[in-house]
Amino acid sequence: MHSIENYRKEFITYLESKTVTREPRNLYEPITYILNLGGKRLRPVLVLLTAEIFDADYTKAFDAALAVEVFHNFSLVHDDIMDDAPKRRGKPTVHEKWDINAGILSGDAMLIMAYQLFENYDVEIFRALAKLFSKTALEVCEGQQYDVDFETRENVSLPEYLKMIEYKTAVLVGAAMKMGAIVAETSQTSQDSIYAFGLNLGIAFQLQDDYLDVYGDPKTFGKQVGGDIIENKKTYLYIKAMESGSEADKKALLDLYSIQPTETDRKVSAVKTIFTETGAALATQKAIEAYTENAFAILDSLDITTKKKEILRSFGQSLMRRTV
Ligand code: IPE
Ligand code: IPE
Ligand code: MG
Ligand code: MG
Ligand code: MG
Repeated sequence: MHSIENYRKEFITYLESKTVTREPRNLYEPITYILNLGGKRLRPVLVLLTAEIFDADYTKAFDAALAVEVFHNFSLVHDDIMDDAPKRRGKPTVHEKWDINAGILSGDAMLIMAYQLFENYDVEIFRALAKLFSKTALEVCEGQQYDVDFETRENVSLPEYLKMIEYKTAVLVGAAMKMGAIVAETSQTSQDSIYAFGLNLGIAFQLQDDYLDVYGDPKTFGKQVGGDIIENKKTYLYIKAMESGSEADKKALLDLYSIQPTETDRKVSAVKTIFTETGAALATQKAIEAYTENAFAILDSLDITTKKKEILRSFGQSLMRRTV
């Protein structure tokens, strides 16, 4: 087995060898820009790692890994338009640097490029990858629509929220791992188990994303801290604060979320105080741990060596400690 750092480095080298800026420049430059802006490369690393976990030569999984990363970046470009986000990975978002039309079209092109990468596989693997990808991509759209719909709703339930994050984020993490398993041509049972592992890890990952959106360090986080609060996002923090806050807390929160204030700083700090004092922040950290533990429990049933289980476990643990 190779180290996580090794997969990341090799993936970046592969990505760089495949990204060329062609004409028309206003279509391809934003693509090169976003793909080279860095990021954790979590999903492609999981594709490569999983392929090797199931005894394949991980270099065979490069194109699937690239497809997942290109799709992820497409979803971020469109997500940043939808969320009116100014910053991504410490730099201006595509629609800020170019304009909304450039973001829409370069995003569309990336989605197509992602599909194209599966053409490099033989028919059986191609079919399995493309099928999983189509299902996953549609679910991501559904999750994104719920996320936007919830902005203008006061009462989003916990199950509704969990479904939303499962779709917008977790299914792609599950799919990344399953793609590694598909490339390795492992059994259907193993494919399903590793998908479930990734799904639970993905839920924990989005809970952490919600948490960091409020409590991240503005100097290192890379995105606008408080962006979810400004956009009235119904995050785990919001739902928990509405659940366990006093009547006064709830009223204050509803007021803060019903106006679109010009003083965003004041809104963000007032909401943050409520999230902290109602125990919503702590509840979020607990939920991150619980979903990570759910993922680890799935490992028990997986037919791989203890050493490989340990690699997956320590990767899951490192995600819980992340600050970006
Ligand atoms: C951001 O994903 C969008 C979410 C699904 C939370 P990442 O946090 O993986 O973003 P990068 O690729 O590392 O920048
Ligand atoms: C993003 O969720 C999910 C997708 C891009 C599909 P967020 O809107 O929370 O992601 P960030 O915080 O902007 O990275
Ligand atoms: Mg966003
Ligand atoms: Mg969003
Ligand atoms: Mg977020």
